[in-house]
Amino acid sequence: MDHRDFRILGLAGSLRQASVHRGIVRAAHEVASEWMSCESFDLARIPYFNQDLEDEGNPEPVKELREKVRACDAVLIATPEYDYAIPGVLTAALDWCLRSRYDPTPFRHKPVGIAGASPGGAGTARGQMVLRQILLHPPAYVMPDPQVLISFSRQKFDLETGDLVDKETRDRLRRFLSALAEWTRRFEEPTKAHQVQTRERSA
Ligand SMILES: Cc1cc2nc3c(=O)[nH]c(=O)nc-3n(C[C@H](O)[C@H](O)[C@H](O)COP(=O)(O)O)c2cc1C
Repeated sequence: MDHRDFRILGLAGSLRQASVHRGIVRAAHEVASEWMSCESFDLARIPYFNQDLEDEGNPEPVKELREKVRACDAVLIATPEYDYAIPGVLTAALDWCLRSRYDPTPFRHKPVGIAGASPGGAGTARGQMVLRQILLHPPAYVMPDPQVLISFSRQKFDLETGDLVDKETRDRLRRFLSALAEWTRRFEEPTKAHQVQTRERSA
């Protein structure tokens, strides 16, 4: 990875227009250093996993998402906690992306950062543990620390737009992205080796 060109793919686990998690992905784009880029992919385009669909080949949006995950240096997943776990929207996207039926999962050895915000005090701590467990499957390399657990979100986001307005939290997010770049650098060699292996396998 060239330090001047660190590409993050941002995924938000909420489809709501004024979602604070969409707001986190937007804020990541805004606060990222100039040598980083943060692209997002809208999970509304991903259907529920259905093996009948998969039998006909991965749907186009799934192929696109898998390719974007493969191409980026790291994935930022900003997700709410739903029912002490994660939303079905995100689970469905991961169901498709963690499969290795037609080609190896792009999440294998992929560095991942997780962020979340909740109206209460827990800041998605339980949901993040569930997501970490799911991402053991490829396995992805989920950054253990620092964590972005944003509590009392109503005081930190513009509720009309979902924009992250709290300066301290924006600074925290900036530091988190820098840490994600450092974390990703640790896996440069294994990741390169895996990409070569993948290319050789599909040649
Ligand atoms: C179906 C559902 C389940 C939820 N479960 C939890 C939960 O287990 N823990 C929690 O802290 N908040 C829970 N919430 C509240 C969410 O944290 C809150 O709605 C959050 O702002 C959603 O993120 P968004 O603004 O990105 O849509 C739940 C909300 C919904 C709609």
